[in-house]
Amino acid sequence: MNYNNILSEFNKGICTITINRPSKLNALNRETINELHQAFKAADEDKTTKVIIITGSGEKAFVAGADISEFADYSVAEGSDLASEGQALLFDFVANLSTPVIAAVNGFALGGGLELAMAAHFRIASDNAKMGLPEVSLGVIPGYGGTQRLPQLIGKGRAMEMIMTAGMIDAKTAQNYGLVNHVTSQEELMPLVEKTASKIMRNSSVAIAAAICAINAGFEEGENGFDAEVSSFGKCFGTADFKEGTTAFLEKRRADFPGE
Ligand code: COA
Repeated sequence: MNYNNILSEFNKGICTITINRPSKLNALNRETINELHQAFKAADEDKTTKVIIITGSGEKAFVAGADISEFADYSVAEGSDLASEGQALLFDFVANLSTPVIAAVNGFALGGGLELAMAAHFRIASDNAKMGLPEVSLGVIPGYGGTQRLPQLIGKGRAMEMIMTAGMIDAKTAQNYGLVNHVTSQEELMPLVEKTASKIMRNSSVAIAAAICAINAGFEEGENGFDAEVSSFGKCFGTADFKEGTTAFLEKRRADFPGE
């Protein structure tokens, strides 16, 4: 499929989606959000895709936020639709995908950019990355899940400070906060993310999908994560991957998971 604002490449089980508006620091306009939805959906439906990587093009930015030029004159109703449509199409959609999503944060991840990185299942950053939710400096608040996912990841007090000050933190601070799992040089970012993806790909994709579901359940309003774990755990026993994983262990060989 051809996109105007993103690139989607598949190689050896990994789909790499790159936001490609470097002249606008990869800011997320509506068309980009729609294209990202299509690309994530296509990658998730392709059973040969084992891991999805999301990154930004150029050396400066992952994503510098929602495209401010697009919403500057919105009304209350339009602002509310912007947030709810974006959350449904992209941010919640990504967080709930069965295929693991890693954000390779290669520069500024601000506003909607940090929210996209936080919707991914985990994050790895290059040492030039800068992260923040500067929305209150524009008279608005994070609208793509930032007020929820940032405190979940780094704790309420730190999230309050980041959101209230509208400030940016560097990659090392983000790692100390637990916002990103690893920090490396710009050159080593994609190799490290791909190496991490290959470790994931050795395991059962069916079990990984069940684990994502159980982990996310603990953060859903009205859901009990422990109950979700019991249910997902039980379902694994009916899968071909479980048969293969346990048989391979007992036969002292490496498992070759069918992904079913
Ligand atoms: N929306 C729309 N356009 C954006 C953008 C955004 N969120 N972030 C950057 N751009 C555009 C700039 O307008 C500029 O476009 P132009 O060359 O046509 O004028 C281009 O990207 C380059 O950005 P610039 O500001 O010149 O780069 P810089 O290195 O001086 O500053 C930032 C980098 C990230 C500090 C600065 O771009 C910035 O503060 N961006 C907005 C961040 C933000 O508030 N995000 C939350 C939005 S809710």
